[in-house]
Amino acid sequence: MHTKRVSIEEAVSLLRQGQVVAFPTETVYGLGADATSDEAVARIFAAKGRPADNPLIVHIGRVEQLPQVAAEISETARALMDAFWPGALTVILPKQAGLSQLVTAGLDSVGVRLPSDPVALKLLQAVNLPIAAPSANVSGRPSPTTADHVAEDLDGKVAGIVDGDKAEIGLESTVIDCTVTPPIILRPGGVTREEIEAVIGLVDTAQPEVGETKAPKSPGMKYTHYAPKAPMSIVKGDPDFFQSVITNAQAAGKRVGVLVTQESRHAYRADVVLTCGNRQDASSIARELYHVLREFDRQDVDVIYGESFDEAGLGAAIMNRLRKASGYQVIEQEK
Ligand code: TXA
Ligand code: MG
Repeated sequence: MHTKRVSIEEAVSLLRQGQVVAFPTETVYGLGADATSDEAVARIFAAKGRPADNPLIVHIGRVEQLPQVAAEISETARALMDAFWPGALTVILPKQAGLSQLVTAGLDSVGVRLPSDPVALKLLQAVNLPIAAPSANVSGRPSPTTADHVAEDLDGKVAGIVDGDKAEIGLESTVIDCTVTPPIILRPGGVTREEIEAVIGLVDTAQPEVGETKAPKSPGMKYTHYAPKAPMSIVKGDPDFFQSVITNAQAAGKRVGVLVTQESRHAYRADVVLTCGNRQDASSIARELYHVLREFDRQDVDVIYGESFDEAGLGAAIMNRLRKASGYQVIEQEK
């Protein structure tokens, strides 16, 4: 059956009945359910096809709800919330009893976020329950930045979709583990390391990003993510090198897609050239990235080559998602 677009009021009543509802946030669309109900949370994992050992972020609409979710709030965590909430920062804290065990995948910590999107806030405040919400995509696919992306992945699998604006940031929240000192950035995202360090001083970054042999700190780090259907590689080299990579693939009979920015959109001859923002403004790249990755699926390409980006500021999150989307395949020009 077709999933309906629902109003905030209808969404509130569905959530109270233990159903799952997708809703907009400023990062990406989320797939929400009552975080205190095992039954409701199980529906999220089923709809997404998400591995049960990957915990969900809990969303609240007011800081006053925090004690329902977290057992302990350190001074550092408090400083981060004061600085970045409402906004694109998820803080990992010791978990409160009363949340469904499924939400945290059995961990004794929980990720909490208070988003800034007005529709998300209105919904969360009206429902007045902690709401578990991963990104509203099928596991492994690029996260949704519009209600249409959600419907593409989850039509018929969820009780409702709240329509809203295109996500303003376009990449997920930054996840920071505040149960350790110094805190560790587990996932780069909408709030940059530079912004965080300006508030609380130096933080660590989870290492390594890939192929861990031991259990990763953030369970989500071990799964393939954000991937378009065609295999993708990041190409590092000058424009002639990039073009030779394209031409070789075409000579092998492949329909080639390339991901570029406005600056270089006329630089390459390929079958499909998709533009993702401009280099002067990393936020424009972040905002378009998932949409463009999904667009390659529609254009039915056999292989995708992407440019690479500077890792400063929001660039860290952009490159993190591109590396994952490409399964860490990099084609580098020999020096
Ligand atoms: O921007 C966002 O964060 C979006 C919107 C909807 O808020 N949500 C989102 O959720 O991206 P999800 O489930 O796609 O990603 C959550 C990430 C995963 O990598 C998960 O492993 C990690 O956060 N995570 C959640 N709880 C954790 C915990 N207690 N300890 C370590 N990592 C945790
Ligand atoms: Mg996700």
